[in-house]
Amino acid sequence: MRRFSGSTAVVTGAGSGIGEQTAIRLAAEGARVVLVGRTVSKLEKAAEQINSSLSEPVAEIFRADVTAEEDVEELAHFITQNYGTLHVLINNAGASGTSTILDLPASEWGRIQDTNAKSVFLVSKALGKIMIDNNSGENRAIINVASLSGHKAGAMIPHYSSSKAAVINFTKALAVEMAPHGVRVNSVSPGFAETPLTEEGLKNKRFEQAIVKNTALRRVGKPEEIANVISFAASKEASYMTGTDLLVDGGWMIT
Ligand code: NAI
Repeated sequence: MRRFSGSTAVVTGAGSGIGEQTAIRLAAEGARVVLVGRTVSKLEKAAEQINSSLSEPVAEIFRADVTAEEDVEELAHFITQNYGTLHVLINNAGASGTSTILDLPASEWGRIQDTNAKSVFLVSKALGKIMIDNNSGENRAIINVASLSGHKAGAMIPHYSSSKAAVINFTKALAVEMAPHGVRVNSVSPGFAETPLTEEGLKNKRFEQAIVKNTALRRVGKPEEIANVISFAASKEASYMTGTDLLVDGGWMIT
């Protein structure tokens, strides 16, 4: 399938994990992809992987901290100058941490809200304008990567689960605002997937066993399995879907 031929896509947090796999998938299906993140070496490695597997290079990188409004404005300028338009935006960058509420420093609460929720607002605002401006009726979609934790508060991640609940609700508000412009907006909520974000936790075998036991499919997910669903939601196959959340959790919620 080449569902993204002729499309331009931006993926934030594309240097690793789910973002990297999503960028690979979109490029394999014909998109020109801009990989956004803070660490140039990680982005270069991911872009090189994409470009070396295709007959012509389609991936390029842009260094930006998605919590910084000036970086996001520069990204918007870069997209306008170099591509003129934007079809697909994947707001994937995110961070986590563990603490009880009573022990949580306000600064850490702020860091997680900024990285997971404020960034989605800033990037959607800046790049959403480009998606609207040059709308010629093609498929256009924004996918925000939320989390199972945005639906169900987990122990020790109050800041993370609150930020992801914000992403799920913001997605619906943005979907209403963008619908008249032909841009669909949905969120994808992964359950537990094997990425750098979860690497430390998964080193603890008792923790991993607890995750597996609580997952109906009895295993942890792979980042490609989340990327597949993100790609579907971003494609024209999902043309009548907006303002919803797709839970990709191996059946965690039903156990
Ligand atoms: P990851 O750590 O590999 O990916 C997150 C990426 O975001 C990293 O490359 C990181 O450098 C980047 N990033 C963080 N802050 C940034 C900033 N201020 N500016 C630009 N880039 C920044 O982990 P993973 O798992 O691939 O995470 C991707 C998304 O999936 C996140 O939003 C995460 O919350 C979400 N998620 C992951 C789950 C999992 O089990 N792996 C479960 C539920 C949600």
